[in-house]
Amino acid sequence: MTGGDGDKSGIAGGPARHIPVLLDRVREAMAPAPGDVIVDGTFGAGGYSSAFLDAGASVIGIDRDPDAIRDGRALEQASDGRLKLVHGQFVDLEEHARALGHDAVDGVVMDLGVSSMQLDQAARGFSFRFDGPLDMRMEQDGPSAADVVNTMERKDLTRIIGMLGEEKRASSVSHAICQAREEKPFETTLELARVIEKVVKRNPKKASIHPATRTFQALRIYVNGELHQAAGALAAAERILRPGGRLVVVTFHSLEDRIVKRFLADRCKTRGGGSRHMPEVDIPPPTFEFIVKGNQDASVEEITDNPRARSARLRAGRRLDSPARPLDIHEAGVPRLASFHGLGG
Ligand SMILES: C[S@@+](CC[C@H](N)C(=O)[O-])C[C@H]1O[C@@H](n2cnc3c(N)ncnc32)[C@H](O)[C@@H]1O
Repeated sequence: MTGGDGDKSGIAGGPARHIPVLLDRVREAMAPAPGDVIVDGTFGAGGYSSAFLDAGASVIGIDRDPDAIRDGRALEQASDGRLKLVHGQFVDLEEHARALGHDAVDGVVMDLGVSSMQLDQAARGFSFRFDGPLDMRMEQDGPSAADVVNTMERKDLTRIIGMLGEEKRASSVSHAICQAREEKPFETTLELARVIEKVVKRNPKKASIHPATRTFQALRIYVNGELHQAAGALAAAERILRPGGRLVVVTFHSLEDRIVKRFLADRCKTRGGGSRHMPEVDIPPPTFEFIVKGNQDASVEEITDNPRARSARLRAGRRLDSPARPLDIHEAGVPRLASFHGLGG
């Protein structure tokens, strides 16, 4: 739910329960009804799923974090069979839905990013606010952030930090990382945060933003392949939604939002350019229409209650009956990055 790490909610070892972000707007955009089957690709603490269950819908709740699935079992048991939890990735949501007997679904929702439980637990290693192992893996499997910073070539690190963290001082950060790791490999979040603090100064106009914010964001996105996942899941949603079905996506930073915005703009397009100077070109028929034109964000009241809602953006579309189209994830906005044990590419 958040790409940022700057607020002070939650304490190490005692994670705050995740507060669902933009819940009213998600409910409105999804319009769940009795008998609907909705895929919640980011089950988390089950905030959205519970709202859909309360409206009488059935839910396939997917999460790549085994802790989220374990903690959701009680809700699953109390759901009279209407909630089915799946430990997996939302990029595979089409396969998960089909494996549960659904060749088409009425809704797909995704609330991208990490949950409060993940961010606020020092042991998960997502945050520079708590000292913990430099991990950041939602799935608790595969290469960790420590593996990346301790072994990747400097030029590849620079590109990851620059592209996925939008860090202007990416080259200085990667230089400092490579120097520090010669002395001792990084093991903890605070070791990395301290090295970054030496080369990225606090912006006096944004004093509450920690200098390590952008580098931590970049590593988290890379380690979890978050942009590949998001782009792939949009294409999967297009394939599995029935005509009239709804796609609702909440994002927390500009890289994710750009992918969702481009996807919906492309899929909702009904005219192929055309101006006084350029002839109209043939374009494929639209596969979605906008439910929400542009994006919606959180109200001042919601941000006051839950500061992590401040960068949330919701975009939504309704599936039309034209066939799904292939998607090139790089054209969709996923940058090409160095491969590392199954990551990047
Ligand atoms: C922001 S939280 C979702 C919170 C949820 N909407 C709620 O109301 O409780 C994001 C969740 O999505 C999961 N997640 C992130 N990327 C995923 C992916 N590619 N596949 C499956 N789950 C993912 C995370 O593990 C996390 O639990």
